[in-house]
Amino acid sequence: MTQKPKPLHSIKVDGPIPAHLARSVIEETLRSAILDGRLPCGTALRQQDLADLFGVSRMPVREALRQLEAQELLSVTAHKGAVVAPLIQGDATETYELRILLESEAMRQSIPLLTAADHARASAYIEELEAQHDYTEIGRLNRLFHMALYSKAPNQRLLRLVEDGLNEEERFLRFNLEAMGLGKLSQDDHRAMLQAVQDRDTDRSIKLLEQHLNRGVEVITRYLATPAAQSRQAAR
Ligand code: NI
Repeated sequence: MTQKPKPLHSIKVDGPIPAHLARSVIEETLRSAILDGRLPCGTALRQQDLADLFGVSRMPVREALRQLEAQELLSVTAHKGAVVAPLIQGDATETYELRILLESEAMRQSIPLLTAADHARASAYIEELEAQHDYTEIGRLNRLFHMALYSKAPNQRLLRLVEDGLNEEERFLRFNLEAMGLGKLSQDDHRAMLQAVQDRDTDRSIKLLEQHLNRGVEVITRYLATPAAQSRQAAR
């Protein structure tokens, strides 16, 4: 019998929080704790515990939890209340099919509006990814690279959905990349995609994006089928 971890203890709150900032401080604090794994999947978050922890009333806590639920970082059930959501919700193949649809459209809208500065920013992320060995950083940089390519899409709701998908992948990579034993990740896909984006070749960019995401879902599906992955998921 292992000792029951107390994930909320990992969260530090500096001093009293001004009432008008309470919701956003709680939301940001919990989001980063979920994304970096201090609050693992399955952790129940009780409103009163959080209100005590942050020294606020339950109202901003409730609002923050609602925001995190909308971002699919929490799932709220009648019995358990708010619970940190599983790493990949439902079927990984369906998740990636949707991501391909959404990200292709964001890319199509964004490509003609991207500036040389946007291209340079994306290129800098590739260089950082090339040098990075820390798996949590790799997940974050991958999300930032992709978002840089989509960032000029005028449809803000589309961009939010795209970012939700990338957040989900980032969390997954954070927990599993090391166990997946991929070794050093090649940046060839990212480089080819950026080149096509810079050439404003929308068709080629989208084709490369599809290949990139399909390769991702293949690796993840293969990994999730291994006994090691199954025991990791069950342990949460
Ligand atoms: Ni990528």
